Amino acid sequence: MAAPRTRSCLQYLLHLANDNIDFRLPEVRALLSLSGKPFNPVENFHEKSPFWCLDGLSEEDIRGVMARSICAKSAFELWGHGRTHSELRTSLLKYPVENISPYMEKDSTYRINVETFNKTLEFQNRLERIDAMDYLPFEGTVSLKNPQHIFCLLEDYGTDPNNIPEQPFYIYFGRWIADGQRELIRSHSVKSRHFIGNTSMDAGLSFIMANHARVKENDLIFDPFVGTGSLLVACSHYGAYVFGTDIDYNTIHGKGRSSRKNQKWRGPDENIRANLRQYGTETSFIDVMVSDASKPVWREGALFDAIVTDPPYGIREATRRTGSHKETTKPPDDFCGESHVPVSMAYHLSDIFADLLNFSARHLIMGGRLVYWLPIYRPEYCEEMVPLHACLRLVSNCEQILSSHTSRRLITMEKIKEPEDSDALAHLSDPRFSLYQGHNAFREKYFSGLNKRSGKEDDEILKK
Ligand SMILES: C[S@@+](CC[C@H](N)C(=O)[O-])C[C@H]1O[C@@H](n2cnc3c(N)ncnc32)[C@H](O)[C@@H]1O
Repeated sequence: MAAPRTRSCLQYLLHLANDNIDFRLPEVRALLSLSGKPFNPVENFHEKSPFWCLDGLSEEDIRGVMARSICAKSAFELWGHGRTHSELRTSLLKYPVENISPYMEKDSTYRINVETFNKTLEFQNRLERIDAMDYLPFEGTVSLKNPQHIFCLLEDYGTDPNNIPEQPFYIYFGRWIADGQRELIRSHSVKSRHFIGNTSMDAGLSFIMANHARVKENDLIFDPFVGTGSLLVACSHYGAYVFGTDIDYNTIHGKGRSSRKNQKWRGPDENIRANLRQYGTETSFIDVMVSDASKPVWREGALFDAIVTDPPYGIREATRRTGSHKETTKPPDDFCGESHVPVSMAYHLSDIFADLLNFSARHLIMGGRLVYWLPIYRPEYCEEMVPLHACLRLVSNCEQILSSHTSRRLITMEKIKEPEDSDALAHLSDPRFSLYQGHNAFREKYFSGLNKRSGKEDDEILKK
């Protein structure tokens, strides 16, 4: 007979949300690595499945993940599983009694939920499923409203909504441990945010970015293209101190035209600080300032625990940086400095990404992460197009499809060594990066495929 598993080597089941599918694995890995824990899936792991079984973790580890995860809906201590209800029964009856008994006691209260993936079950069918579990030694009293223990039967009907089988492909049963943080998507929605702009980042993705970046309490986080500060909002939610820069004076000072319907000008307190105040994290706000990302103002040396950002793509308006015309005006005779007239110049995407990676290599702490979005023209994309840097290890590369021919990729990199002179990021001048070279190169590509686009998904990229 197999030795009963101790409570420290139980298996846990994660029920993942069926959106942002590419982002789920890096999120869960990042959250586990925050407490030094490995991601150990059991055999037959399928990344695209909404159910993952994990080994080698404790309940505390799982609670840690669920306290932050946007991609995971719920987590369970896995008691049994199988391809049919009969296999599930056999598996459950083999589960060590000493693991089950603490949750079955006479004076306890409990409830059993039935959750289905890719199928809706009638109330009657759910009741039948619960009644059929009478082989488990429940001794407590059912309490639907406020039970001490919640159990869950989960049925997986596959991922094809046009081909839903009569019987589930797989069935799981377990003790509910915790839910993820999907409520943050609603509570922090940009629809109800105090200060927004045309390119404010969706709340769910902002939190996912902060998780990929492994933002934690007391970290110092920087967004060099801060806009309305959506990423600062997410990072400050996890207790980090946040700072941002943007080239646009109006955005930084909350002035100018409003992005809201029915409102012409921004109100007196529409700014990033007020956004953090709205969510109770104003004490984490360091400041924001007007600054050009192509000309960093920071003194040499590592400063930031993570850089989390959403650079401009130059779709709706050209990407700009500051420059200088040196010979257009004659300086006064008594002027002894170097004369120049500041002008706005094109900022090619290849330069934006080169500057961002070089800056991150210099100013991230060792092990610190850079998380940013890279726009992609899908017909021409290949992995080699993702900018690399000798000091930054590529951790993950997750696609969010925006239309038939465009997407953006969330790139996560981790600093692995201090930069040396020879570590210049050279390969952005490679022909593979022609998409990002030249003024408006990506923009032209983007609009050349517009007729083929699939519809409203393009709205978001259009704003940039
Ligand atoms: C995609 S938006 C960022 C949106 C932001 N994540 C938010 O939630 O509102 C890109 C921002 O980069 C800024 N930007 C463009 N060129 C810049 C530069 N050279 N230096 C700094 N910021 C720049 C734009 O003004 C814009 O606010």
